[in-house]
Amino acid sequence: MKLDWATIQRPIIALSPMADMTDSAFCRVVRKISGPDVIVFREMVSSEAIIRGNDKTLGMTEIHPDERPIVQQIFGSEPEKMAEATRIIDRDHNPEGFDINMGCPVYKVVHSFNGASLMRDADRATAIVRAMKEATDKPVSVKIRAGWEDPKECLTFGIALEEAGADLITIHGRTKKQGYTGQSDWDLIGEFAKTVSIPVLANGDIYTPQLMTEALETSGAEGVLIARGALGNPWIFKQILDQLAGKEFEPITLQERVEVIKQHARWHIEQFDAGTVRTFRKHLSWYFRAIAGAKPFKARLHTVDTIEELDAVLDEVLEDGLKGGAVARRDASHPLAANRLFIKK
Ligand SMILES: Cc1cc2nc3c(=O)[nH]c(=O)nc-3n(C[C@H](O)[C@H](O)[C@H](O)COP(=O)(O)O)c2cc1C
Repeated sequence: MKLDWATIQRPIIALSPMADMTDSAFCRVVRKISGPDVIVFREMVSSEAIIRGNDKTLGMTEIHPDERPIVQQIFGSEPEKMAEATRIIDRDHNPEGFDINMGCPVYKVVHSFNGASLMRDADRATAIVRAMKEATDKPVSVKIRAGWEDPKECLTFGIALEEAGADLITIHGRTKKQGYTGQSDWDLIGEFAKTVSIPVLANGDIYTPQLMTEALETSGAEGVLIARGALGNPWIFKQILDQLAGKEFEPITLQERVEVIKQHARWHIEQFDAGTVRTFRKHLSWYFRAIAGAKPFKARLHTVDTIEELDAVLDEVLEDGLKGGAVARRDASHPLAANRLFIKK
């Protein structure tokens, strides 16, 4: 599939890049549940590490055919290195698009002019966009925050990115300084969207199909990028697509949840060539977070080692039916709302 942000079906619904989370296995799960109409963004990789030939980082850019269409996100601060990393990934794995991380607030990323710190250096940021555009014929998008400290910074920054050739911009409506405090400002995203003519995706605090509709109505954006709302809840994209198609909402049964977790665990082991499910425990926490009645099983899920042990606990969960739990709370304003909302007794 040739990805063209200008003509792809609206609204654009996409999985947001998440380090350590949106790896190949998780992207396969999202694709399997959601079908072809969702775009998945793979976790960021370091341009420096790609160029150095770091095995682990190179492995992170491998793509299973089932995952496509895939957008690979890259972070870095040197235009030429970003371009070279793009060429390597393009040559070796041929993702459908590239995305530049200009929003990450984490110290180890921003301290060397990567991530959100690029919002303080428009010359460097635009040079990166231009260099990557020359390196590939795939679309190059950029993911930004509202600003470093001043939420209005995006309003001039976006124009510069568009002029440099960016094909799409995703904006998380918080500043770097805010981190994850406060709320993503969807009104600001609307203001931002009016300053550029390329498509804009709204990001931040979209945890349910209802919130997706609100975010789109408030911002007028062409689509949404969803991060935390997909952790432990890869069903959210299908539920959104169903809502857009006017279909009735179908809660996830415990049986479906367990089947998906078992599949996800197997793909995770396959991807990382791991003999254990230790590195999968983080996903287990999300899959059972805020799930009524799951408490008695959590300690064991946090210590499972082998796939057989995991299967055994999951079978017990099924047998138990989590009947001891209270009815799911319908509180849509929390990242975990998706789980609360969608577990079916
Ligand atoms: C665990 C985790 C890892 C993340 N890693 C990345 C990343 O690699 N690249 C990026 O641009 N944003 C990253 N983000 C930010 C998200 O993509 C998203 O912009 C942010 O969480 C707001 O969206 P949400 O409210 O839907 O979670 C990460 C967020 C989380 C929670």
